[in-house]
Parts: sequence; structure tokens; C-alpha cells
Amino acid sequence: MTAYMLDGTKIARDIKSDVATQAKELEHAPQLAVILVGDDPASKIYVQKKQEACDECGFESFVCYVSAIATTEALIDVVHRLNNNPEISGILVQLPLPSHIDKFAVLNEIDPAKDVDCFTPTNLGLLAQNRAILEPCTPQAVIEILKRYNLSPAGKRVAIVNRSLVVGQPLATMLMRENEWGNATVTVCHDRTENFQYHTANADFVITAVGKPDVYRLRGNMIRGDAVVIDVGISRMNGKIIGDATEDVADFASYLTPCPGGVGPVTCAILMRNTLIAARSQLE
Ligand code: GUN
Repeated sequence: MTAYMLDGTKIARDIKSDVATQAKELEHAPQLAVILVGDDPASKIYVQKKQEACDECGFESFVCYVSAIATTEALIDVVHRLNNNPEISGILVQLPLPSHIDKFAVLNEIDPAKDVDCFTPTNLGLLAQNRAILEPCTPQAVIEILKRYNLSPAGKRVAIVNRSLVVGQPLATMLMRENEWGNATVTVCHDRTENFQYHTANADFVITAVGKPDVYRLRGNMIRGDAVVIDVGISRMNGKIIGDATEDVADFASYLTPCPGGVGPVTCAILMRNTLIAARSQLE
């Protein structure tokens, strides 16, 4: 089987176009504030992409550049200032933060109404109750791709290779919901999973989000012959951007997201949609 490639770039274009149309109806353009700590080159590129997406949607964007040696308290002050600024609709703290910073102490201070990443305990709690207004971007992007290609995970076995609070855990929660785009039987795999390949090889859907090619790749012989593979992993190898899946996965899978051009652009477009939702909810 040769996999049908799921076109994240097109989905992202459609979402941003829809968001731009809806944003025009607001009295003020939504504004996204991004906090960038230090000068990690990869983070700078991600932030630039978010700014470009804001431009495409007719949003204002603002980057708060903070020194790599800033303290946790100084960063919390920046978050408080953005919380109190009525012109800011959404706040995003670009991760990773330097290791001396208490990440959760900073993220937990974001006003939940402006928490477009869904990183705060309030929004993660609301997500568990299926009542969140702002849901996390990458899990939403995965489900949006499935929706657009009518690939319902309902009743199917889904293996998620990632257990983070940003991707694996919220995605598992969302895929287990009692709705058409949930109702899946979810297994969350990680680096301590015994018999790892048993789980991926028995899954109808494999969603992989590791991004560490030196320790893990998803290979063709690790999946079922007709599996749907969503590749969230992103890393660089010999100057080339690659996902978690090796090239031979395309020979086995029925559907596959490419990398680049798969989940990444959709995640960025969903961030724009969350910023619009945040802006709207603040006007109410
Ligand atoms: N770093 C890499 N991806 C992301 C993301 O989606 N959100 C934030 N805040 N930081 C990131």
C-alpha cells in the first residue's frame, strides 16, 4: 500500500482564511503576545511563523523578548503585564524555557481567558470536563486533520507515542470523548513501554510525537498494513527537517501526514483560531 498524503498546508490555509474572515467582523483586530526567552534559533523560527500567521489573519502580534538570564519572578511580571493589558487577546510563552526557570510557576500565571496554548491548570481541568473554551493546539490539529479527511477514530484502536501535557495527555483525553471525533480506544506509549511495537502494530491509528531521531523513529515494520499515521514529531537531521516516521512508513500506511507540511502548519492555524476565540470571549 502507498499512503495517501494528508495535506496539512492546505488545511492550514483554509482555517486561516476562515479565521481572517471572522476576525474582520470584530471591532478590534485580535492581538497575540508571544514571550520569547533567550535566543534559541528554533524557537525564533517558530515565533516568526506565528507572527506571519497573525499577519495572514489580519491580527496584531507582539513579541516580548526576554533575556535568557531573566528570573522566574521577572517572567511572571511580564505575564502579569500582558494579563492586565486589555489590547492583548492571547498570550503564548514559547517553550522550552531555560532550565533555571520554574516553567509551571510562569505558565500558571497566564490569565486562562488569554491562554491560547491551553497550558494553565484551569484550562486543562476544563478540558478534562469537556468544557474548555480554549483547547490545546497540537491535539486540535491532529483531530482537525482526521475530520477534514473523514477518518473517524470512533471505536478504533489509537496508539499515541507521547505522554506530555502539551500533546499526548490532552490528545488522549480528547480522543476518548463521547463524540464522533472521539470514542477511540487509546493507548499512550512512552520510553518505558514494554513491547512497544506490539502497541503500534495493533493500532488502527498511530499518532507519533517524539522528535528525537537519535533514540526513536517509527518504521514501516512497526505499523499495521493499513494504519493511519499522524506524524507530529519534528526534528532536524543533516540539515533536513524530518518527522518521526521513516520513509518506508509511506509504503505501509493507508494515510500519512508529511513532515514538513503536515501537523505543523495546522497547529499554527489552530493557534490563530484560538486567538480569535479568546478575543471574542473577552468582548462578551
Ligand atoms: N514550542 C514548540 N511548540 C510550541 C507550542 O506549540 N507552544 C509553545 N508555547 N511553545 C512551543
